[in-house]
Amino acid sequence: MPTTTPPAPPIDASLIARLQGAGQSHLLRFAPTLTPDRRAALLAQIEGLDLSAIPSLVETYVKAKPTFSLAASVEPAPYYPNNHASKSRAWDRARFEKAGQDLIRAGRVACFTVAGGQGTRLGYDGPKGCYPAGAVSRKPLFQLFAEQILAHSRRSGKDVPWYVMTSPLNHDATVAFFRANDFFGLPPSSVMCFPQGVMPSFDMKTGRVLLAAPDEIATNPDGHGGSITALHKSGAIADMKRRGITTLSYFQVDNATVQALDPAFLGLHASAPDSSAEMSSKMIPKAYAEEKLGLFCSCNGRTEVIEYSDLPMDLQRQTLPDGTLRFLAGSIAVHAMSVEFIERLATDPRFSLPYHRAEKKVPCIDPETGEKVDPASPNGVKLERFVFDALPLCRASIVYETDRIEEFAPIKNAAGVDSPESCTRLQTERAARWLKAAGIEAPLTSDGKPDCTLEISASTALCASDLVSTDAGRAAVTRLRSSPIPRGANILI
Ligand code: UD1
Repeated sequence: MPTTTPPAPPIDASLIARLQGAGQSHLLRFAPTLTPDRRAALLAQIEGLDLSAIPSLVETYVKAKPTFSLAASVEPAPYYPNNHASKSRAWDRARFEKAGQDLIRAGRVACFTVAGGQGTRLGYDGPKGCYPAGAVSRKPLFQLFAEQILAHSRRSGKDVPWYVMTSPLNHDATVAFFRANDFFGLPPSSVMCFPQGVMPSFDMKTGRVLLAAPDEIATNPDGHGGSITALHKSGAIADMKRRGITTLSYFQVDNATVQALDPAFLGLHASAPDSSAEMSSKMIPKAYAEEKLGLFCSCNGRTEVIEYSDLPMDLQRQTLPDGTLRFLAGSIAVHAMSVEFIERLATDPRFSLPYHRAEKKVPCIDPETGEKVDPASPNGVKLERFVFDALPLCRASIVYETDRIEEFAPIKNAAGVDSPESCTRLQTERAARWLKAAGIEAPLTSDGKPDCTLEISASTALCASDLVSTDAGRAAVTRLRSSPIPRGANILI
């Protein structure tokens, strides 16, 4: 007997009405032509949209371009200087380092990496964490972090769980990568990957939600600010509470030399007198006024990050009498966050972070003809939330200065600034600096830069002093003493 596919059930009249009310009826244009399965998938995607919020999002962010309004009082945010003996603000490094170590040893700290971005600028086809970033080893970014976490776990005798936020677009590939690499030696039960939420992408001219295909809405990850909700919804917060985790060490997937766990920073976050222990941040001094880093500012007395594109350039160029930039504190997007703070925000029905608008090229279909559109110039608006917009929601928030060579070697672009090439150079400079402190000289070019490529594994040393204070570090130094580094060498230490 011939089988016929049963007709798809009619579309719920209330959904049709809600779509009409939101100005998005075109999303059902191709529904009658879809197989029941695909139609059900499209309807589920539409049901996942907050249709009641769309008209005001379109008016505020798509049809209009919200302008950034500067607070009445904008001052540089105060910070704990990297030099703890600095005259500007001395602090007791040994005490706070111990406080941070104690937290790690008590099993209270987990790492949290935001890895849901699309990595379009790098042009790498895959999750950015899989990018081969090790200067010599070509180890992927995820492995560079995993090895640090493993080294800290071994030293403290406590597992350090690792939460990785992916996006629906790269989640499966990320999980497969961890599995294929046996979680880089970490216990699989200590690694939790979960996807962030998405936002629909909008047509820049009409405000209509774009269709990626007749049966699919075009979406984009909802920004790293989506992590606060995603940590809660995914069950990650519940998992942390079960494990007794109180503090998260937050970092971005793009920074190859980030300190996955920094005891001094964690100690300051947890117990500095002016910290609420809710959310703290690390900064580096900006190299030049136009450097594209968010800036820590004190706005009406509250610490905030203002994006480089929002803070007026004349303020960014202001200098102090000694010539240093007045707004110096650039964000490297490293935070310490309390689990309780995240849970409080995520479960508060009034909690909301602002959206930021970006104009992008979004491949889509023409909603009238169904023909594919591969735009040559931006046709869409993507809306994202930024995690640092949670800073003003803290009771108080501290900023800690770190050193660029020690921990900021991001890979963002295919070439030039913040590229794989600059990341390799910075890893080498850091390794040469650590070796020099241990009495080993790397060959130098005439302008004093290392004339070789170096990488120090986390299993050898997590910081310069490990090269003289740990067995693995001392063994590496002894080996290098007996065979000095030749010019042009590529050495993994
Ligand atoms: C970011 C910061 C900037 C900071 C700089 C330091 C923003 C808007 N700006 O710039 O203040 O000085 O880093 O390197 O963040 N991500 C997600 N989900 C998303 C979007 C991004 O997980 O939906 C992750 C990415 O995977 C990446 C990180 O967030 O790890 C940064 O995202 P990106 O948009 O590339 O920010 P930048 O412009 O590099």
